[in-house]
Amino acid sequence: MATTTSDGWDESAAAWIASLGEAGDFGRRFVLDAPMLARLRGANVRRALDVGCGEGRFCRLMRAEGIETVGIDPTRALVERATQLDPAGDYRIGRAEALDVDDAAFDAVVGYLSLIDIADLRGAVAGMVRALRPGGAFLIANLTSFNTAGMPDGWTAEPGRAPRFCIDRYLDERAVRVAWAGISIDNWHRPLETYMTAFLDHGLQLTHFAEPAPYGGDPERVARYRRVPWFHIMEWRKPL
Ligand SMILES: C[S@@+](CC[C@H](N)C(=O)[O-])C[C@H]1O[C@@H](n2cnc3c(N)ncnc32)[C@H](O)[C@@H]1O
Repeated sequence: MATTTSDGWDESAAAWIASLGEAGDFGRRFVLDAPMLARLRGANVRRALDVGCGEGRFCRLMRAEGIETVGIDPTRALVERATQLDPAGDYRIGRAEALDVDDAAFDAVVGYLSLIDIADLRGAVAGMVRALRPGGAFLIANLTSFNTAGMPDGWTAEPGRAPRFCIDRYLDERAVRVAWAGISIDNWHRPLETYMTAFLDHGLQLTHFAEPAPYGGDPERVARYRRVPWFHIMEWRKPL
């Protein structure tokens, strides 16, 4: 099984761990964690697969809710960190597009800000849907396609004007190298249609869609977050 990536994740793992810290960054801690956990509670999930689990923070949060988890990620240093922080947890090196798990083994499959990092979206979705039991929840948190169309530096400042967020080439799917805080990775921009079609082609049914607002954090960050489309959450169901 491949354990290296050419997308910057191996080289960026230490900086990623440092940047996320124990509690997670602004978006995770103050925008996404609570509504993501609420969806899992509502879906009565007992066993969840977290694809692109990184250093395992969301698995740890799910496990604190009593959910049994498997976390999968190709970046060895992140999987090692996850295991170090949660030795009793199940963290495995692997790729979304080559998932080594049983069919229909999970009540929920989670992609928490990971689909934007996966080059083979269709291969990943196929594997994730296969791992989900009929009726199970496919729970996605993602950067919106409006946001990724602004990468790598959507915010522009012109003298005398408030900073603006510019998007461009919305319909052109592409990998974009983004860098901050010692991290340098590829993110994928895809039009929203690409994601929706990938899910619809598996017969998944959309049961929840949210563009969550921040529920805490530094007021300046909150104000900036509220100016542009940033994250969305989708819950799809695999038909019975
Ligand atoms: C932005 S991080 C999100 C990590 C974690 N879900 C979180 O929210 O903290 C994206 C993760 O996707 C992982 N990744 C990259 N390519 C992948 C692939 N082909 N399959 C699964 N995960 C992948 C990276 O190693 C990284 O840990």
